[in-house]
Amino acid sequence: MDFELKTLTRALVCTEKTDALIVLVPDSMAPGGDALSALAESALKSGDLEAKPGKLLNAYRVAGIAATRLVLVGAGDASPKSIRTAVNAAMGALKASNAQQAVLFLGALTSPSPEAVRAAVVACSEATYAYTTTKSKPAPAKLQRVCIAMDSVAPAQSNFDKAVGLARGMEFAKEWANRPANHATPTLLAGAAKDLAKLPRIKVEVLGPKEVEKLGMGAFLAVAQGAAEPLRLIVLRYEGGAKGEAPVVLVGKGITFDTGGISIKPAAEMDEMKFDMCGAASVLGVFRALAELQPALNVVGLIPACENMPGDNAVKPGDVVTSMSGQTIEILNTDAEGRLVLCDVLTYAARFKPRAVIDIATLTGACVVALGGVRSGLFSNNEALAQALSAAGEASLDPCWRMPLDDEYSEGLKTNFADVANVAGRAGGAVTAAKFLQRFAADFAWAHLDIAGTAWKGGTAKGATGRPVPLLLDYLLGQVSQAVPEKATAKARVGKKSAPGAKARA
Ligand code: BES
Ligand code: MN
Ligand code: ZN
Repeated sequence: MDFELKTLTRALVCTEKTDALIVLVPDSMAPGGDALSALAESALKSGDLEAKPGKLLNAYRVAGIAATRLVLVGAGDASPKSIRTAVNAAMGALKASNAQQAVLFLGALTSPSPEAVRAAVVACSEATYAYTTTKSKPAPAKLQRVCIAMDSVAPAQSNFDKAVGLARGMEFAKEWANRPANHATPTLLAGAAKDLAKLPRIKVEVLGPKEVEKLGMGAFLAVAQGAAEPLRLIVLRYEGGAKGEAPVVLVGKGITFDTGGISIKPAAEMDEMKFDMCGAASVLGVFRALAELQPALNVVGLIPACENMPGDNAVKPGDVVTSMSGQTIEILNTDAEGRLVLCDVLTYAARFKPRAVIDIATLTGACVVALGGVRSGLFSNNEALAQALSAAGEASLDPCWRMPLDDEYSEGLKTNFADVANVAGRAGGAVTAAKFLQRFAADFAWAHLDIAGTAWKGGTAKGATGRPVPLLLDYLLGQVSQAVPEKATAKARVGKKSAPGAKARA
């Protein structure tokens, strides 16, 4: 989908020739003397249109409106959430039509906020996204181009650009997350990262089994050893900040398929374990967006990628392995593999002298039980980092919820045969998994996002959501304004309801 931003008043938008004009109608719409305002006012008055978010009124070849199709859609209080609902509904209505381009008019809202512009762009991109890679005859998307229009675009331009970058990043994350495991092997994932390195300021290095062995990553190797497909450790760098400036490190779980290994999973819905690399996909998506936006900061992306398979050579329950940190781990359940690949890469992350390390993982079914598909689980050993990530989640409509890390939760990880076991009991499974990871993140500000419930949807709408790219990107862009106290970036901060990175420097 292509996006454009254009200045159009209410009067001018009436004369704009386009396949479809979508007008967001808030519940407090200021009156206007033009044809469009008159139409919206009378539709509201008659009750044929409600200003409730997502309520629609469709029309065709309306007198006084140059657009072929007109979609009036209620936008309620014009909050980002309401705008998302409204745009979703309007795009849904257009899907059945032959419209190839549309104008999305925000000029009926009283000065749309930056978050509102972001919500509109992201909702357009989400509503029109279609996975086609492994279809033999993909139906081409009809709607190709959306022009976001409002009275005066100057104040919205930089937020519009950020939103388009975000949408590109989310599309990239979804694409790789949705690909089946035979089309998204660790090697292919590394190839996707190498493609990103063709973009400005991005560098990629890919390590294989030999190098990983040399590093002493015994836990990562143990997970990968059951599979014929070789592991990859993908190291991405985005260098937009000053040389030597401490980077934020993102670590994405990249299990390209999780059978459970010898502790094998039941058959039902096992196909969904192709999504067990959604953490990795979100890191790739963030780098795609960084390439687009070129912010002044340094970011490192680390992706341990492998399959978790049973087999002659697979790791067995009870096996003890030595992690890169030197800690020994008793692998009581081979299906708790995510924490094993992550723990070694958390140890590896320290060499980048990070200002913060954030791991992103479809880590536990228990997190799905705790929070469902609405909020990701957030765990952190650092208050400022936790606050910054929470705020970023709220602002970007990609929310998370802070979970506890009391030491008492570690009790169940004790074992007679190693320094730590890889599983505790059933109770508090998302927390005990985080407690395991925390042991490997003692030397830096660390946060863990458990996205098991939020990274993809099941059922008929089965597919990746692109989360938590919005949260991560909002957090990272919030870091710029404090890392580089320049005029330009200070200006970019004005008008932002909350500066999510304001207290993030750990
Ligand atoms: N990838 C899964 C977690 C998962 C399961 C995410 C279902 C989304 C939906 C992870 O590797 C796993 O299998 N975790 C186990 C841990 C258990 C063995 C302690 C789980 O959650 O059952
Ligand atoms: Mn597993
Ligand atoms: Zn897994």
